[in-house]
Amino acid sequence: MKKLLITIDGPAGAGKTTVSRSLAARLGYKYVDTGALYRAIAFEAISRNIPQDDSNALEKIFPKLDIKLKTEANGSPKILNGHKDITEFVRSPEVSMAASKISAMPAVREFLLDLQKNLGNEKEAVFEGRDMGTVVFPNADLKFFLDADIEARAMRRFGDLGGTHPLDEIREDIRTRDENDRNRAIAPLKQADDAVVVDSTNMSISEVVEFMAAEAVKMM
Ligand code: DC
Repeated sequence: MKKLLITIDGPAGAGKTTVSRSLAARLGYKYVDTGALYRAIAFEAISRNIPQDDSNALEKIFPKLDIKLKTEANGSPKILNGHKDITEFVRSPEVSMAASKISAMPAVREFLLDLQKNLGNEKEAVFEGRDMGTVVFPNADLKFFLDADIEARAMRRFGDLGGTHPLDEIREDIRTRDENDRNRAIAPLKQADDAVVVDSTNMSISEVVEFMAAEAVKMM
């Protein structure tokens, strides 16, 4: 059977994380959440009081970072910096916004590029992000671009956050992050020419996963 490297790109809240995790579990593949890498850097910047527009100051902490993505026995992903488990901190709206900001910095993208490429060496993996199919793995075996309209995405994020944040704020955050992610000069969010576009607005997570798994099986 052919070992595949599968990429799933798309905007915030389109369901990438749930879909990527389920697809990876279904195929027995590794799941790599590249957004978590940007979030880890953003979290460290906030923790160390580094201004989010100070690329030089941020670069200085790179040698001190030891970011690792792990999967627990029950399948839930963990993100560590050294021995410090930062999983529960990196998903807050504050870190989300900071991650979007710092991800526009060339130094940050360059720092994470090799790390991501190395993680993909063995194939049999599902990589989730914004530039997986365009920049990090242009030769991926199967590329998806997962999209949904803004209202559906805001509602999903609202649910993910357990109703702890107002829907209006979440919608505005998503709009701002979309703007940042699509318009940055380096590796902006956009679909690869050879990506299969999936609009999940009116699809359930399991319908999306079924569709993607069927596409993957065709290629094996
Ligand atoms: O997928 P996410 O919401 O966890 O990503 C957080 C931020 O990181 C997102 O706003 C943009 C950035 N990101 C990126 O620029 N490139 C990636 N491959 C993944 C995430």
